[in-house]
Amino acid sequence: METKKLEHIAIIMDGNGRWAKSRGLPRIMGHHAGVKAVERTVRAAKELGIPCLSLYAFSTENWKRPRGEVLGLMGLFRYYLRSKLEELCKEEVRLRFAGDLSALPHDIAAILEETAEKTKAFTGTQLVTCVNYGGRREILEAVDKLIASGAEGPVTEDMLRAHLYLPDLPDPDLIIRTSGELRLSNFWLWQSAYSEYYFTDKYWPDFDKQDLLDAVGDYYERERRYGKA
Ligand code: FPP
Repeated sequence: METKKLEHIAIIMDGNGRWAKSRGLPRIMGHHAGVKAVERTVRAAKELGIPCLSLYAFSTENWKRPRGEVLGLMGLFRYYLRSKLEELCKEEVRLRFAGDLSALPHDIAAILEETAEKTKAFTGTQLVTCVNYGGRREILEAVDKLIASGAEGPVTEDMLRAHLYLPDLPDPDLIIRTSGELRLSNFWLWQSAYSEYYFTDKYWPDFDKQDLLDAVGDYYERERRYGKA
């Protein structure tokens, strides 16, 4: 029997704001609680031996949120990377980032690049954080880079893929979205062509190891056909 691969789980972490609102708290507290869920999930993915976990942390559209919330989120990235880097290094987690980092505050872009460099030799779990990420933008940037390289058509999938943010990353096998929303929201547009989806009503700050296990269990019960009969 064919063993089904599960190399990459991608998560759209949604519902932080509603989680906070339901408790009468400011939205930023939902994001703080969301960081705790990130920590739990990274640990759980490692325990399950998932080679790659990617998290949609900030989209190209999230700049439209109130300034205070955007600044708060940037502060959280700073805090998370500064305070957790040592621990993640100890656990040999390879940290990578996908997105247009040029528009981020300089110190954050520098921390992201430094973190990726420091952890690049680790071969255990990869944690990919998508920051200022948009699937359409990623594809457009790849097309621009392809044109700039002088490549001639007909363009193949491999040629385009070579210019994505992380060309060597396996496509997500499973995409999880929390909070009951049933959309992809511009996440991994190219890479999600054959992904399986799992939706849960739970808000992201409440997501825990059991939820990850449920999603993985559900995935293993499905048959992936990639267009075949
Ligand atoms: C969506 O909830 C969540 C975000 C846009 C931000 C996700 C960020 C984190 C979990 C914290 C930082 C992450 C890392 C990797 C350190 P929402 O605000 O759209 O919730 P709502 O739909 O209920 O308003």
